[in-house]
Amino acid sequence: MTMIDVRGLTKRYGLDTVVDDLSFTVEAGQVTGFLGPNGAGKSTTMKVILGLASPTAGSVTIGGRRYRDLPVPLEEVGALLDAGAVHGGRKARDHLLALAAGNGLPRRRVDEVLARTGLESVAHKRAGGFSLGMRQRLGIAAALLGDPRVLIFDEPVNGLDPEGIRWIRDFMRSLAAEGRAVLVSSHLMNEMAQTADHLVVIGRGRLIADTGVAEFLRGRGEGTVLVRTPEPAEFALRLTATGAAVREGPGSALVVSGLASEEIGKLAAYHGTVLSELTPQRPSLEDAFMELTKDSVEYQGVTA
Ligand SMILES: Nc1ncnc2c1ncn2[C@@H]1O[C@H](COP(=O)(O)OP(=O)(O)OP(=O)(O)O)[C@@H](O)[C@H]1O
Ligand SMILES: [Mg+2]
Repeated sequence: MTMIDVRGLTKRYGLDTVVDDLSFTVEAGQVTGFLGPNGAGKSTTMKVILGLASPTAGSVTIGGRRYRDLPVPLEEVGALLDAGAVHGGRKARDHLLALAAGNGLPRRRVDEVLARTGLESVAHKRAGGFSLGMRQRLGIAAALLGDPRVLIFDEPVNGLDPEGIRWIRDFMRSLAAEGRAVLVSSHLMNEMAQTADHLVVIGRGRLIADTGVAEFLRGRGEGTVLVRTPEPAEFALRLTATGAAVREGPGSALVVSGLASEEIGKLAAYHGTVLSELTPQRPSLEDAFMELTKDSVEYQGVTA
């Protein structure tokens, strides 16, 4: 089910077109990764979805309604945009109690979200003394207060240590498993590939790719095979004779494309060639992402 519908969204700041005729949907029960290089327009798009910025053109709806038409917004959509935003002098639980009271949400939700985010033991500590990881959890607890079906997180793993990243990743997966729609932005492709079901990639405010993660992984093409042998020149000739493409890799290794490692091994055995290494290599996700967004980044470099 479509929970967020972004349609023909354009946002201009003065003469700058920051989001350019962007359309995509965010579905229930999935983590949708929102990817793009710095300045691509991710945060701006999220702000428009949340009614914090108005679109220049186009429309955005959450559960079929515009943000400003939601009767109790926090019951429809929760968001974590900037973890630093919590007032440091306030205790974690008091912060959430104030938020609940201000939005007409039941007090019991406060203890529920504290438990859910593992913050019970620090509920009576001041947020000012929290680590970044703890502040992120508090921000997520606040986003969950209204038990919303839609969650929006802007770069939630930025600056976190591996354990914090793992926690956030698992948490998003569990939210999606409950049937919620989760939109999470990042500029880290590898991170998103491990967290998201679906990817929306933008560059310079424009849609570059809108694809399932599995599909994206499949579509990034065949990898190469790294081959080491004491007789690289001779074996390179044997390889090219079968139609494979060979180029020189690090330390006189051969980088072979067009032939699977199994076939390369058989060819070596057939000719009695000694192999000291035979390693299949997939292009990294980061590489695929850079390739995909290359033009939008270069273009920005020229005009900035
Ligand atoms: N209030 C504003 N006024 C003018 N320009 C703005 C405003 N907010 C954002 N921009 C510009 O819009 C562009 C997109 O910014 P945005 O923050 O949406 O990108 P982003 O994809 O979130 O980038 P990052 O990965 O760095 O967070 C940038 O060039 C930014 O300078
Ligand atoms: Mg941003």
